[in-house]
Amino acid sequence: MEGVTVVDHPLVQHKLTLMRDKSRSTKGFRQLLNEIGMLLCYEVTRDLPLEDVDIETPLTPMRAPMLAGKKLVFAPILRAGVGFLDGMLDLVPSARVAHIGLYRDPETLTAVEYYFKAPTNLAERLVIVMDPMLATANSAVAAIDRLKERGAKEMRFVCLLAAPEGIEKLRGEHPDVPIWTAAIDEHLNDHGYIMPGLGDAGDRMYGTK
Ligand code: PRP
Ligand code: URA
Repeated sequence: MEGVTVVDHPLVQHKLTLMRDKSRSTKGFRQLLNEIGMLLCYEVTRDLPLEDVDIETPLTPMRAPMLAGKKLVFAPILRAGVGFLDGMLDLVPSARVAHIGLYRDPETLTAVEYYFKAPTNLAERLVIVMDPMLATANSAVAAIDRLKERGAKEMRFVCLLAAPEGIEKLRGEHPDVPIWTAAIDEHLNDHGYIMPGLGDAGDRMYGTK
């Protein structure tokens, strides 16, 4: 599917299955989300540009590649998106962070914003928006709308599970934002939950409800 990368790495798939299991503890769920965050970060940054710089090894001078191009901003959608953040920051410690507080109204399934704090100069940065669940995509679309309002021009969206309905909506509203996901599930149920899914990611991460 154009603009959608399914990260089918065996470690990601194995860890995702452990997360789906309803008997997984809060601690285990959180730890796995963090680990998968790191693996997804590896994939979403795979094509970042490099430039050769001059360095000296203990034996000889050489030219060696280092990251070039736009600096990164990680933009987790609260709460569950925070579960990816530490793993991603472990790989890219210099990234800036934009926090986007949104919750899904359980009746209307629309996204309600309660917090937004982003670095300046979004226009000059590559923004990686992250949320484990892409269900209706109302939250992802609202987050990306808001980041665009604040000047962001280049964005990527990373999730753990996506519903076909959410992919269609996000690709329709923001075709310039490619998606990375560990799996595409079957459909949404009548309450907007991804099936078979893993339940409510925020609640499972924090042991609420
Ligand atoms: C969940 C999830 C996404 C959103 C996805 O958040 O973490 O942000 O739902 O659903 P959508 O694609 O239909 O918008 P929730 O609103 O439950 O908030 P929480 O992360 O604070 O629990
Ligand atoms: N949010 C979740 O946490 N899980 C779903 O299945 C859908 C939205």
